[in-house]
Amino acid sequence: MMSARPSSPAARHLTSVPPVPSTDEESPGHRPGDVRAFVSAAVQRPSTIGAMAPTGARLARLLATVVPGARSAVVVELGAGTGPVSDAVQARLRPGSRHLAIEIDRDLADHLRATRPRLDVVHGDAADLRRLLRSVGVGEVDAVVSALPWTLFDGARQEEILDQICAVLRPDAAFATISAHPSSFFPAAKEFRRRLHERFDEIVASRTVWRNVPPARVLVCRRPKLRALP
Ligand SMILES: C[S@@+](CC[C@H](N)C(=O)[O-])C[C@H]1O[C@@H](n2cnc3c(N)ncnc32)[C@H](O)[C@@H]1O
Repeated sequence: MMSARPSSPAARHLTSVPPVPSTDEESPGHRPGDVRAFVSAAVQRPSTIGAMAPTGARLARLLATVVPGARSAVVVELGAGTGPVSDAVQARLRPGSRHLAIEIDRDLADHLRATRPRLDVVHGDAADLRRLLRSVGVGEVDAVVSALPWTLFDGARQEEILDQICAVLRPDAAFATISAHPSSFFPAAKEFRRRLHERFDEIVASRTVWRNVPPARVLVCRRPKLRALP
């Protein structure tokens, strides 16, 4: 299933995930108010949003491939924003699943509740993930998908959130996150990947999705290594 063709030392542990099927070509589109909500949040709180535009449909669908498509599952989405990744996750969910969307920005959390009533929106900080999930009756989960702006976080915050993610993943669960160009070459992104390798047994990088602003790929992380949480 994986074709391993590392192109650089940094890519040595990275292999390819399958291309998104051609049926994924149609865009799910935006809901009314999505663009206005994104622009408003990005202008008022750029250091929290950390993106020029919402994730495109192709990249969102690639991110959502870690959601089990053949059985019910508990899925957590971190930094749901205006919901493009939420829509891609919803499209894969089987009956009986739960989809929890954690969003730190109150306006965006309200927007998600108003536009996507099937989502279980939790207003809060991903660094508080275990407590937030417990508050809605969830312990372990089958997948975590993230569009968090990792390169805006300092090292301690990256570690804090990653440790929370590892603590809630079932042993066979997966964590998928976006790695955008060109920020993937920044020191904070390199440090982030080092932290991923410290915490996961396998990290698989997708091809780059060029039709996204900015172009980006998905890192799929599996088999969290056991780490004691404070
Ligand atoms: C780059 S935007 C992505 C939004 C949307 N998921 C998308 O793909 O277009 C990052 C989102 O993460 C949220 N965010 C940033 N830090 C967060 C944190 N510590 N916990 C939860 N959400 C956070 C921001 O408010 C923003 O909505």
